[in-house]
Amino acid sequence: MEILSAERVSKTYAGARGVVRALDEVDLTVARGRLFGFLGRNGAGKTTFIKIASTLLLPTSGSVRLFGEDVVRHPNRVRERIAIVPQEGRPFYHLTPLEHIREYLRVRGVAAETANARAEELVDAMGLRPYAAEPSYRLSGGLQQRTLVAMILATRAEFLFLDEPTIGMDPFARRQVWQVIRDAARAGSTVLLTTHYLDEAEQLTEELAVVESGRILYRGTPEALKSRVGREVRLQFEGGVTAAELAPFGPVFAERGKVIVATTRSRVAELTQLALARDATFNVGPVTLEEAFLALVGRSIEEEEASA
Ligand SMILES: Nc1ncnc2c1ncn2[C@@H]1O[C@H](COP(=O)(O)OP(=O)(O)O)[C@@H](O)[C@H]1O
Ligand SMILES: [Mg+2]
Repeated sequence: MEILSAERVSKTYAGARGVVRALDEVDLTVARGRLFGFLGRNGAGKTTFIKIASTLLLPTSGSVRLFGEDVVRHPNRVRERIAIVPQEGRPFYHLTPLEHIREYLRVRGVAAETANARAEELVDAMGLRPYAAEPSYRLSGGLQQRTLVAMILATRAEFLFLDEPTIGMDPFARRQVWQVIRDAARAGSTVLLTTHYLDEAEQLTEELAVVESGRILYRGTPEALKSRVGREVRLQFEGGVTAAELAPFGPVFAERGKVIVATTRSRVAELTQLALARDATFNVGPVTLEEAFLALVGRSIEEEEASA
């Protein structure tokens, strides 16, 4: 059963650099209870989609239904059943994490006793206990972000929008947050989460959509996307080996000083020899969502450049 369905949603912004088409006829459905990932590079259109679906922004054209309600026509009917972690949100200066959660629940109409109990529970689950009574201006960016995520997850809203929920967090905090998000989905909430951390998408989401330049390039499971790479192993090199040398072994992805090649098991020995001969730092592992994403989005960028 679909809880969210977007039909031909487009959004254009008139900015200083001219007109930007942030979303281009996006169709998307999310099934009830799903932990759904929305993936894309910076500027792909993720936040724009989240804002439209969560009633914060009007689309230029197209429609979104949440719980069967049109989000433009009946925003108030939708708002009481959703909660949103906005991108780059900031907590209130003087409120503590505990107060944030409790007061937000109170504003949403939750009884005082329940609000208290849930605030205590979330503070523990999110690793915020040592900071529970600190005013938020004294907290690091990562802890402030954890406070916001805790506040939203505590609502137990039917539909949770999480826009880059783990941004600025260390690896331990991220894992803690993943667990709380999983628990929310298990308890029945539908979660739409954006991220550009591919390991996060791989660990957390059951289904995902990849967006690039306002268009959906892929929709399906993370496993199916990985299987599209058609190779089972990845080798990552730092220094000593060039992309051109690796090309005969399979698809190559160069990124910030590292070169990755996706290849078959039978060629690992040969590549290992090469790396050792060149004294290159390298590691070997199964193909990840990163290669699948880079292949998919890279192809789309090349096509766009060729047609321009
Ligand atoms: N308020 C705005 N005015 C003008 N352009 C915007 C505005 N918000 C976003 N954009 C542009 O729309 C595109 C999509 O942005 P966004 O939805 O924030 O992407 P993402 O969340 O995937 O990084 C980008 O090109 C961005 O620069
Ligand atoms: Mg964004």
